[in-house]
Parts: sequence; structure tokens; C-alpha cells
Amino acid sequence: MKTEDEFPELASLTAEEAAARLAELATEIDQHDKAYHQKDAPEISDAGYDRLRRLNTAIESKFPNLIRSDSPSQNVGAAPATGFGKVTHSRPMLSLDNAFDGEDVENFVGRVRRFLGLAEDEPVEIVAEPKIDGLSISLRYEDGKYVQAATRGDGAVGENVTANVATISEIPDTLGPGAPDVVEIRGEVYIRHDDFAALNRAREESDQAVFANPRNAAAGSLRQLDVTVTASRNLKMFAYAAGELSEPVGDSHSGWLEQLSDWGFSVNPQSKLCQSTTEVLDTYKAIGEGRAALPYDIDGVVYKVNRHDWQERLGMVSRAPRWAIAHKFPAEQAQTVLEKITIQVGRTGAITPVANLLPITVGGVVVSRATLHNEDELRRKDVREGDTVIIQRAGDVIPQIVRVVEEKRDPASTPFTFPTVCPCELQTPVIRQEGGVVARCSGELACPFQQVERIRHFVSRDAFDIDGLGEKQVKAFFDRKMIRTPVDIFDLEQNDSKALDPLRRWEGWGEKSVTKLFAAIDARRSIGFDRLIYGLGIRQIGQATARLLARQYGDFATWHNAMAAAAAERAATPDEMKKPELVGENYADLCNIDQIGISVADDLTAFFSEPHNLDILKGLEDRLEVEALEAPAANTAVTGKTVVFTGTLFTMTRGEAKAKAESLGAKVSGSVSKKTDYIVVGADAGSKAKKAQELGVTVLSEDEWQAMIA
Ligand code: IVH
Repeated sequence: MKTEDEFPELASLTAEEAAARLAELATEIDQHDKAYHQKDAPEISDAGYDRLRRLNTAIESKFPNLIRSDSPSQNVGAAPATGFGKVTHSRPMLSLDNAFDGEDVENFVGRVRRFLGLAEDEPVEIVAEPKIDGLSISLRYEDGKYVQAATRGDGAVGENVTANVATISEIPDTLGPGAPDVVEIRGEVYIRHDDFAALNRAREESDQAVFANPRNAAAGSLRQLDVTVTASRNLKMFAYAAGELSEPVGDSHSGWLEQLSDWGFSVNPQSKLCQSTTEVLDTYKAIGEGRAALPYDIDGVVYKVNRHDWQERLGMVSRAPRWAIAHKFPAEQAQTVLEKITIQVGRTGAITPVANLLPITVGGVVVSRATLHNEDELRRKDVREGDTVIIQRAGDVIPQIVRVVEEKRDPASTPFTFPTVCPCELQTPVIRQEGGVVARCSGELACPFQQVERIRHFVSRDAFDIDGLGEKQVKAFFDRKMIRTPVDIFDLEQNDSKALDPLRRWEGWGEKSVTKLFAAIDARRSIGFDRLIYGLGIRQIGQATARLLARQYGDFATWHNAMAAAAAERAATPDEMKKPELVGENYADLCNIDQIGISVADDLTAFFSEPHNLDILKGLEDRLEVEALEAPAANTAVTGKTVVFTGTLFTMTRGEAKAKAESLGAKVSGSVSKKTDYIVVGADAGSKAKKAQELGVTVLSEDEWQAMIA
């Protein structure tokens, strides 16, 4: 596709706008790189990420003098995560440019021809091979022996994962006789679908977060400080490229693949030597058609110029070789019927239209809902109830509606009318701020939908993390007026003991589940300061900002007082005098925190100006013990030790115990193994304590543990 077609807005872009947009893109892409490489938790689809990079390149080629030194075009990915040693790659680990259609592929071959000055009829052999969706790895062999493995990292420096990779059975320890003194082999580590499914099942059963997709599972499994975990994951690897070689191996890529196979590596069986662009595109089609039946994920086909001497001459440009390109598969799409459009009211009142679909499988996942984002998006796509729609799922992002299949539209259908009032019983008006895209229910704290969402957020995993209070339960407690605000959660047991219709008699509840729920609530009566702030669900206050505030203000009372004072200062200042210094000291302090600024400060002070919120804070303060955030210590009695907590602890919650141990430099594990140094046993401890005894792990009582870390 042509750049002008994809980004029509570029035509009218001024230099000033370009500079600003490039700065934004540098930050944005860097954040995505970090989420992907360091946390194995991408926040954007591959297609979305590629689009950002293309936009960056497109603006740069229009304004070459505005290219930044921190531009994403100048490097290959994020720097390595901590915890592993660093390895400087002897040859950089490159990435690949992308092609999205046949025209892009023809252009690629044309560029190769032009660069090499080949005659029109000179054949260019190209190897087409599946693009494995895993993580790239570089293996080093010296004197024929495996000595090191490293992840890609930022392309220049990766992580040392030698011990982890050694557990992968497909990787030979030695190369046969005659191998060069130094051989670096590059390839992709991946996990098969069946192993991925089994791993996630096991994680679900032991209450661990599941991996979003096989790629994250492979990356997470490889980058384990405990290599026995890696060993248990059945990782695989396809070899496909070379790094440093002390002497050349063969004269073509197809020959290199054969050599890899002779040394004992797995080489993808679908790799094919093609004689023409037509054959290349036919191979792309064939590999694409077989994709769904493969036992692992692929996300495109990589084309490589076969002749080594040509590769050498072509060299590379910025971060990618000129002799290779990745032809990506389009995001997976499917056709289904949109049965109904419903309206979702979020925690802060944002109104989101949601498409309820006739369930359909897209890329191995059943999809029954897709977001329609907002009113403008809904109108732009003119999506109507009863329409047949094309939906798309790329990576692990929320499914989207691509378009309506016009030919199948019922002529009698009518456009969807966006609600002007909230679907809650109060029917408060929906308000959209001038220039904004988000419509909000103006019912604020009175809107029952917002109230329920706020409670759901409060008990969610990154906030109070209360087991047994899922969406269904929160709604049921809310409807029965047992939980109307987060404070009520901590009075639930007491109120239930006086109720005419106690919880254990409700349908779906029994003695056991009730006891469990109350225990889960009790366990959270002591809570981390940052979790509390995050749990309040204040607009714009995500986990990172909550942590920032916790660190800045130290303890709950100090923060509460400072926020109340800032709110009072803000309330006493007319809008036109919004300069922080003029508003007041507390407000200015807040705005001055790096990464906070006026908009966040205004949302915080708005929260603290609302009497209902102050009541909730007071209620929580009376019922909870808020733990201050602690800085990690340097060297303690438990630094580097692996600890398991089991049974019910009395002096601290499990979460607190974990956080404390980690702050002292210990590793906390959920299961006992030979690697465990200590097991701290609380009341009613079960099988883990027994297993620890069998393995000879040091067993500590809670008091002994406390004494040890005192
Ligand atoms: S060749 C110099 N071949 O795709 C060329 N890469 O988007 C280096 N990948 O970083 C890469 N399958 O992690 C090559 N058959 C294949 C591949 C492949 C997957 C990955 C690799 C690379 C990324 C680029």
C-alpha cells in the first residue's frame, strides 16, 4: 500500500506538527517495546505496532531533518530486563522490514535487483520460510560445543539465558566434526499449542495468571531465573539464520539450512527455495492456507535472498537487512451477525457501545463481543443491529468490527440511536464534552452502573484482589443492598450475621464458600498503600500513578490530608487563575510531582471534593490497616533465598508477607521444590508443608520467620 493512502493526514502536516508527532511516537513506541520485550505483556496488536512504526518512518521520510536520535527507526527494541547477565551480540540481531501485499513484495525484489544491478532476466533465488511467532535467540558454539545463548534484547545487547536454553531438548550440545571454531546460530524459540494449553490449564488450577498467547508463554518460560521451570515447559526451536561464523559455511541460505539440519537442529519443513516472485507468492499463499492446521503460531512468511555473496553486498539499512523481508499475514477475520448493541457504563461513567455477536471462532478464540469504541466510531462505520459484520482479532487485543457487509443488510434496518440518557434506572443525561469523543453518564456517584463498576475495580486483581467477589457476586450483593460502596465489603460478615436471609442460604452459596469469602476479605484488612490508592478508581490514576503517589506521600494520613488541602485550595480558586502556584501550596506540590501535572491533579482534587468519596475514605480508614511502601534493602538474611508461604498467617497477609520478603531481596514462590530455602507455615497448612519436610526444606513458623527478618 502507498504511504499517502495509508496516512492521508501526512499531506497537510506542518514541520511543527511533524516534530511533535515524532516526539510522541518515540515515547509511545518505546513504551510498547518495553511492554513487549521486558514484561512479555504487549499492550497493542502487532498490526497496530507496525502501523505506528510505519507512520514514524513515513513522517521521517517527509521531514528527514526532524529524525530524532531516540527515534524508533534508530534502534531495534527495548534494552534487556534485569535479573539475567548481559551479552553483547558479536553481530547485531536484526529485525525485518515488513511487506503487506504482493506489490510490497515485488518492490522488495525490484530494490534487490536495482541494488545489485542485475539484468532483467537474471533470476533471483529466494528462500521463503514461515515466520515463527516466538522469541529470537542466538546460540554460540565454540570448538563445536554449546557455550552460550542470548535473547535479542535491543538487538545489540541481550540477556544471558545459556542455562535456560540448555534445557531445550531440540538443541544439540555439540556440532559434528568439521564445524568452524565459532558458530552462532539464530532461530526462534516457541511453544506448541498443545503445550501452551496444558500450561495455562495448570496455571489456572493453581490460581496463577494465564499467558495471553503462546509467544508470551514461550518468552515467560525461557526467562525464568529458576531453570527447572524452563525445563518443564517443553520449549522448541527452529533455526534459521547465522550470527558470527569464524569461517563461511556454504554459499547459500538453502545450503545453510541443510547444514543446520545436519548438525541436528530443527529447520522448518515448509522452507522453500523459489525461483521467481510468482513462486514466492504462491508459497506465501500455500503456507497461509496451512496456517490454521499448524501446531504452532506463525505470523507471516520471511523471504531471504538465497546467495550469500548477494546478501553480503546488500548489507543492511538501519535495523534490517536489505536481503530479507517479512510478508505478514493479515489479522484474522471472520463474518458473523451482530445481534444487539448494548451500552456499557464504565467506572467513571464512560459510555461504550458494545456489539453482541453471534459467537464465532477467530484464530482459535471464541468471540461473542466486540467493542464499538464510541459514538463517532459507531456512526462512521454505521453499524446496525442485525447487520452481518466482518470482525477482526489481531494478537490478543479486544476484537474489533472492521466493517458491515452491506449486501447482507436488511433494507428495513435503521441506524442505531446513541442513548441520550444513561441506561441505569436514574436515566441521567449522557454528556459529551465539547471536542471530546467520550460520552459520560452525568449521574456520577449516584449511577448504579458506575457504583457497581467502582466496586468491581476495588476488588480487582491489581487492587484489593479479593477472591470470590467476581462480577456476578458484586452485582448480586449490590442488588440486595449488602454492598453499595467498598466500605460495605468490610462490614459484610457482621451485617450478614444479622441478616434475615444470610448469605449461606442464598442460591449458589454454601457454608464453605461463605467462610472462604470472609477469609479472603479479612486477608485484605491490611493493604498496601499503593493498592488502596489504585483501588479507589480515581480518574486517570492507574497502577503506576498510584505507586508514584504512595512513594511521594509515604503514608495514607499524609496523603489524605494533602489531597484534602489541595482540593480546598482548588475549590477556592476561580478557574481562570489555574496556575498551580496561585492555587496553593498543596495543589502546587501535587502538580509538581514528575508525571502528574494539572489534569491528573484536577481529577484527584475533584475526587477529594466529593463528600461521598470522603465518607468512603473515612470508612476505609477506620477498617483498614494501610501499609506504607518500603524501599528494597540491600543485603539481608534472606537476600537471594527462595521462600514459600503456606497456610493462614496471622501477623500479616499473604500479600504483605510476599511484598515484605521481596523487599528484603527474597524470591517468593508458590510451590515447593528442591530449590526452596524456607517454607513459612501458617495455620491449616496442607500438602506443601508435607512436601517441604520430605525434601528437607527448612520449615519456619510465622514467629521464626518474623525473628529472622527483624
Ligand atoms: S530472519 C537477519 N527468519 O522475526 C534476519 N526471522 O520481525 C534475521 N522470525 O527478529 C531474522 N521467523 O525473531 C528470520 N524464519 C525466520 C523467522 C524470523 C521468525 C522473527 C525473528 C526476527 C523477527 C523480525
